[in-house]
Amino acid sequence: MIIIKTKEEIMRMKKAGEILAACHRELAQLIKPGMTTMEIDQFAEKFMRAQGAIPEQIGYNGYPYATCTSVNDVICHGFPNKTAVLVDGDIITVDMVVNYEGWLADSAWSYPVGNVSEQSQKLLDVTKESLYKGIEQAVVGNKIGDISHAIQVFAEAQGFSVVRDFIGHGIGQKMHEEPQVPHYGPPNRGTRLKPGMVITIEPMLNTGTYHAKIDSDGWTARTVDGGLSAQYEHTLAITEEGPIILTAQ
Ligand code: MF3
Ligand code: CO
Repeated sequence: MIIIKTKEEIMRMKKAGEILAACHRELAQLIKPGMTTMEIDQFAEKFMRAQGAIPEQIGYNGYPYATCTSVNDVICHGFPNKTAVLVDGDIITVDMVVNYEGWLADSAWSYPVGNVSEQSQKLLDVTKESLYKGIEQAVVGNKIGDISHAIQVFAEAQGFSVVRDFIGHGIGQKMHEEPQVPHYGPPNRGTRLKPGMVITIEPMLNTGTYHAKIDSDGWTARTVDGGLSAQYEHTLAITEEGPIILTAQ
């Protein structure tokens, strides 16, 4: 069942989204070679709590940290680690969910560490643009498949593959609600978009194959071929006036 949100509830989710966006803006300045992924996690957790928000990912299905920090070939759900030092040329995705007064927002962002290769920069640019190609389709009357298809067509035309195993989702007072939002597939399929739906769109693009494998920690998802992976995610509300990006930076 899809839970439709009122305008007031959407405004509450926007508060959570603003805190999350502010945290990402800080991270963009902070992330540098020499930093550990645990330092990133601790910064984000402190930042959220200082704003009166709760890091929703801690304890979610047993996930231990405030953030997922996914470096290079890690697609998503990478554990922060105090021995994982970022080096010049890495790319890292930081994913987090903010709970502010019971309402949630979810946003992942990929960052270059120092100077990155041309290929890495292209992956970042195309992945971010693919998110906005999806958001363009998030209008009343379209279907979920229109979002999925726009992302896949754009990503593949640029030579990248779209991860299948992890997808976007409805969100509200729970992190994962209906509907599911794949980032690949045919147009004109799936749920029709209605005002008051709040969803995430969060494409993960790879330089090589889209296939993923999970580390022995049960969480960390990597590309099977060691190729690079990037991800950009916004939480957005569907309205008669078009999509409102609740996590806009
Ligand atoms: N933010 C992720 C998502 O897009 C959730 C990460 S799973 C968690 O759905 F366990 F880390 F919370
Ligand atoms: Co999400």
